[in-house]
Amino acid sequence: MIIAVDGPTASGKGTIAQALAEHFGLPHLDTGLLYRAVGRQVAINDGDADDPAQALAACDFPDELLDDPALRSEETGGLASRVSVHPAVRQALFERQRAFATQPEGAVLDGRDIGTVIAPEAEVKLYVTASVQERARRRWLEMTGREVEISLDAIEQDIAKRDARDIGRADAPLRAAPDALVFDTSHFDRDQAIAEAIAAVEAALA
Ligand code: DC
Repeated sequence: MIIAVDGPTASGKGTIAQALAEHFGLPHLDTGLLYRAVGRQVAINDGDADDPAQALAACDFPDELLDDPALRSEETGGLASRVSVHPAVRQALFERQRAFATQPEGAVLDGRDIGTVIAPEAEVKLYVTASVQERARRRWLEMTGREVEISLDAIEQDIAKRDARDIGRADAPLRAAPDALVFDTSHFDRDQAIAEAIAAVEAALA
């Protein structure tokens, strides 16, 4: 069984995908991490994330980079969004994601284009979303908890910019697959979102 979980940044899709993987005993891939590794490698190369050839060259990142804590930063998230616009980058990362999705034991993948491009045949597709204000509030709480100094306003602007880029790109834009269950987590806390998502997937499979 393949479960595809797509949605914008800070929507809760990663938490939900991880919980679904645990609940159904399936391996999980956070595909955003691959794009983040490419963005980070561009920075290490002192390159330009908007240059398609330099972004493509960065797809050759070493696997150890996937464990680099810097991948989780807002800065790397922004670079990931910029490199993900280039079709050659998306193509270079396609096989790795496709192979994960089609492994015999099944899989849960989360990202932006899992239900539309990577695994359109997924048995269950969730499109997880939440208002920009709520997503900014969550990100702000998480960052200030790590003692990063940043204003709520700056995060909201950054999220809106990232959404616009991910939704507006020509190749594999962020959108809900026509057969996806749209799941708005704006009014749920973490545990409620997980419980509701599990219930929604179980209902879809019944
Ligand atoms: O989910 P995330 O915030 O880690 O993703 C970072 C960026 O990577 C996101 O802004 C767009 C890109 N991305 C993508 O284009 N396709 C995916 N399947 C996953 C992420």
